Amino acid sequence: MEEMGDKNESFEAKDFGWLVAMSMLFFALVVVGFWFEFSTDWGTYQQEFPQLLGHYGKVEDARDFRAGIKQIWIPKIGVTDRCITCHLGYEWSSVLPATIAEPLKPHPMNDWLVKHEFSRFGCTPCHGGDGSATTVAGAHQGGRGWDDPMLSRALAGQNGLTMNEMIQMRCNFCHRHDAATPAMEEINLAKQLVKKKKCMVCHVVEGRGGTTGPELTYEGDRNPELLNFAYVHGERTLFNWNVQHLTQASVVSPRTQMPDFNLKPEESRALTLLLLSWRRLPYPPEYIPDPEVAAAAMQPSPTSTATPTPTPAATPIAR
Ligand code: HEC
Ligand code: HEC
Ligand code: HEC
Ligand code: HEC
Repeated sequence: MEEMGDKNESFEAKDFGWLVAMSMLFFALVVVGFWFEFSTDWGTYQQEFPQLLGHYGKVEDARDFRAGIKQIWIPKIGVTDRCITCHLGYEWSSVLPATIAEPLKPHPMNDWLVKHEFSRFGCTPCHGGDGSATTVAGAHQGGRGWDDPMLSRALAGQNGLTMNEMIQMRCNFCHRHDAATPAMEEINLAKQLVKKKKCMVCHVVEGRGGTTGPELTYEGDRNPELLNFAYVHGERTLFNWNVQHLTQASVVSPRTQMPDFNLKPEESRALTLLLLSWRRLPYPPEYIPDPEVAAAAMQPSPTSTATPTPTPAATPIAR
């Protein structure tokens, strides 16, 4: 019996050791949990935001503000955009001044942006990026390649474009069938070039055109890893390949039948944005604007500034 007791006691001592170890581990996990909770990328913005609202006279909205992850969820187009967890001022352009620093700055607003209600369109259809992420790096993901990175000023600059110009690639996901659209100068220029240079003599696009060259209907979905970059300088992106191929096809694709168009740099960039906008996409019909409405909106009226003026890109193409 005594032996048994001793054994039990040593068991208890062992158990006690375990208990201490386990509770220390548990405590450590709680600390780490709290640390994560309060060291989010968005915590400080969410503290600042209600103060900002209060400062600009929206005392009640400031009081009603609840901290936490915020999102625009639109299952119909596969959007779960948590960008607004940080970009909290986005729909307050009538209250907050545009001089506020990012990410609390209100979204620019004008007569055509207003046709894309944030609650219906989210953010990523126009901007790209990873909508479900709640860190700056995660949301503004990567910046390399052209799959779906956020189209930042930096990425645009690397490709000789402004952010506004580069975003037009995504505008045309939905505006593909407009002959021309206000505020889409790059794409409008490219659509004119397709006609002027007679690309469809050799290429099928949406069921029409010649077959000397490959079909271009979903050119934007092409995998850059399957391209020959041997004669392309700079980064191995679909963008670079196309810009250089459109300028001098004979250099990028030796022995091609495609003529050297010797386009101006801004023309080949615009045309590349158009080619990259031609993708298979999940947008249901109600997200596709009426091309006739766009055409009507393009008609210059005495007070309108919507006439397209091709703007030369700010910097010559990188590398
Ligand atoms: C965790 C916070 C956070 C999230 C989430 C976030 N952003 Fe940002 N965003 C910022 C901050 C901070 C800046 C300013 C500094 C910078 O550019 O990194 C910024 C800047 C930007 C800019 C200006 C970029 C430039 O190059 O000038 C755009 C556009 C933008 N964000 C869009 C988005 C979109 C779209 C999403 C969702 C996919 C998103 N952001 C998610 C914090 C965030
Ligand atoms: C219909 C397309 C569209 C949608 C939807 C959209 N944006 Fe934008 N956004 C733009 C355009 C265009 C610009 C202006 C780019 C420029 O002029 O450089 C812009 C600018 C921005 C900027 C930079 C502002 C600045 O002045 O530098 C941020 C940040 C931003 N958007 C975040 C968002 C967030 C967050 C959402 C979702 C709530 C969103 N956007 C939804 C088209 C859109
Ligand atoms: C005289 C015929 C001809 C004309 C006109 C022509 N192309 Fe091509 N294109 C070709 C041929 C052949 C190829 C395949 C060889 C190569 O990659 O150059 C090709 C390849 C391409 C590719 C690569 C497609 C892929 O998936 O491999 C793109 C993009 C392209 N052309 C765009 C254009 C555009 C835009 C225009 C008008 C500005 C145009 N082409 C005019 C013949 C033509
Ligand atoms: C997800 C699809 C989608 C994207 C992306 C998109 N739009 Fe639109 N856009 C629409 C729809 C749908 C309408 C029609 C809205 C209405 O009339 O109620 C519209 C309307 C417009 C109009 C008014 C004239 C017209 O055609 O009805 C302009 C101008 C416009 N968009 C420009 C842009 C620009 C510039 C961008 C990129 C910054 C953009 N759109 C991105 C779907 C989209």
